[in-house]
Amino acid sequence: ADVIAVTGSASGIGAAVASSLRAIGHEVIGVDLRDAEVCADLSAVDGRKAAVSGVLERSGELDGLVVCAGVGPHVPDPMMIVEVNYRGAIAVLDGLFPALRGAAVAVSSSASTMTKWAENPISRGEEAAALAEAGQYAGHLAYSWSKNALTVAVRQRVSQWGAAGVRLNTVAPGAVDTPLLQAGLGSRFGDAIRNYRAPISRHGRPDEIASLIRYLLGPDAGYIHGAQFLIDGGSDALLRPTEF
Ligand code: NAI
Repeated sequence: ADVIAVTGSASGIGAAVASSLRAIGHEVIGVDLRDAEVCADLSAVDGRKAAVSGVLERSGELDGLVVCAGVGPHVPDPMMIVEVNYRGAIAVLDGLFPALRGAAVAVSSSASTMTKWAENPISRGEEAAALAEAGQYAGHLAYSWSKNALTVAVRQRVSQWGAAGVRLNTVAPGAVDTPLLQAGLGSRFGDAIRNYRAPISRHGRPDEIASLIRYLLGPDAGYIHGAQFLIDGGSDALLRPTEF
């Protein structure tokens, strides 16, 4: 059996990944705020260190890693979105990289494509100031910036990780029916989420994202490295047919 660490394992997509890996006999080390093998807060430097050391205490080597923990655009403090979705995710990827011998997948978002890196304030370390001026759109901007920065950071690691024989990819879901999406529907961004209609006119299911993640972790994906996979019911092609 493989040993695979999964952040955000207590809910939604991460929970679907963890249960489906366990169902095929793998050992999962879940990391989350609660209900996990390793309970740690990835929004803070100390919590990130505790997450990495907690995983390594349970297994010195990992066959796989899924970085899924994240918060949605609706949370009250937009800097929290950047700290969890971007800095927390990267700290876990980099912290566990030396222990990895298989593959890792980071859960980004279709929102990662809605910002260009050159226009992303995170690229200049200026997101706090930019968010302070963003008004009611701060949550959405922070979310898009955090996921754009995460995907860029993954792509910037291809040489180092490839040389070590560890594959690293992102999945970029559209709207997936999870507690995070439900919380967004109940917030002031609810109408924007409801109006986001994919050509496949329903929300994705967590198990549909989990099956792509399992494929990317496994031996059949041996030449896939540094790639981002949209899994969005066709929304990206609908919105931007000529850009890819
Ligand atoms: P969810 O809310 O069901 O699960 C997220 C998990 O992350 C929760 O268990 C939560 O406790 C954990 N988490 C949040 N903050 C944390 C922190 N500071 N430290 C440790 N763990 C923390 O959400 P969902 O939808 O399953 O999201 C999983 C990932 O998928 C997130 O990164 C999200 O941004 C991404 N995503 C979700 C989409 C959706 O429509 N549901 C669309 C695109 C991306």
